[in-house]
Amino acid sequence: MHLTSFDDPTGAAVGEGAHAVLAPSQKNLFLKNRHALEASHEAALAEYETAWIEGLLSPFHGGATSVMSFGAFQNQLDRNLAAAAAADSPGARFLAQEANHSQFKLLVEQFAVDGLTEAQSFLAIVPRLPLTVQMPIMRILIDEFGCGNIDFMHSRLYQNILLELGSSIELADFIADTAEEVYEFVNIFHWMTKRAAQVEYFLGALAWFEAVVPTFFNPYMDACMRLGIKQHAYYSEHIHIDFYHARSALVALRELEKHQSVDYRLAWLGVQAVEDVTNRAFDAAVARAHIHS
Ligand SMILES: [Fe+2]
Ligand SMILES: [Fe+2]
Repeated sequence: MHLTSFDDPTGAAVGEGAHAVLAPSQKNLFLKNRHALEASHEAALAEYETAWIEGLLSPFHGGATSVMSFGAFQNQLDRNLAAAAAADSPGARFLAQEANHSQFKLLVEQFAVDGLTEAQSFLAIVPRLPLTVQMPIMRILIDEFGCGNIDFMHSRLYQNILLELGSSIELADFIADTAEEVYEFVNIFHWMTKRAAQVEYFLGALAWFEAVVPTFFNPYMDACMRLGIKQHAYYSEHIHIDFYHARSALVALRELEKHQSVDYRLAWLGVQAVEDVTNRAFDAAVARAHIHS
């Protein structure tokens, strides 16, 4: 599996591998322009990322083999989401029922590297998708960026709760103290949108992530109610809107089928990888909150 190369999503050949030297022409310039968001890493960082992704995905290869169609993917997704909703998570219970104000603040600060950069990583997928697959993704992105209203951008909603908690809203202030597991949660989306060879990883993961967010954010809402925190729109808005975003992600997968054969095994690997990193990030943040009594 070529984890760090790009395949052209249109199916057009771009030479002998993704990094082949392209003959100068307007056609090749166009094909290269479609990959304009490709982030080139230093070699050491690229190797690190490749080893991380391979290690992350390898335990899940067996479980993905039965997911060969949209119907099978959706059934497996529904079962996964039902199990997540029914699970008794000690971390979620702690957040909903026990975390004090400073512990809640620490949890919110831990995820600031995500909330303050919300949806930035998603942008890179857009030029990699066929035009009609871009539309449901754009539908999601429009909401993420407040439908053009800065006051409703999800990153602004995150700033609002940080301000109420008396925290900084500068990304730089969170870089040193954020758990590695939380960075992993943000970085998996950057890999899927920018460097994963196939777009199915991201579209599958997005279908799971948007659908599971209400389950993840309900305990945050409970904590806000219990602690009298007023700037809870970041959580309540996601509980409302991500139901629709999950549907849009599934529309994107269906639409992709009209353009290419869709490998649902990769979509399911994306689900499992993101579920894994999401749970570990939350558990790491909760563990820090416990210490921080
Ligand atoms: Fe969002
Ligand atoms: Fe969303």
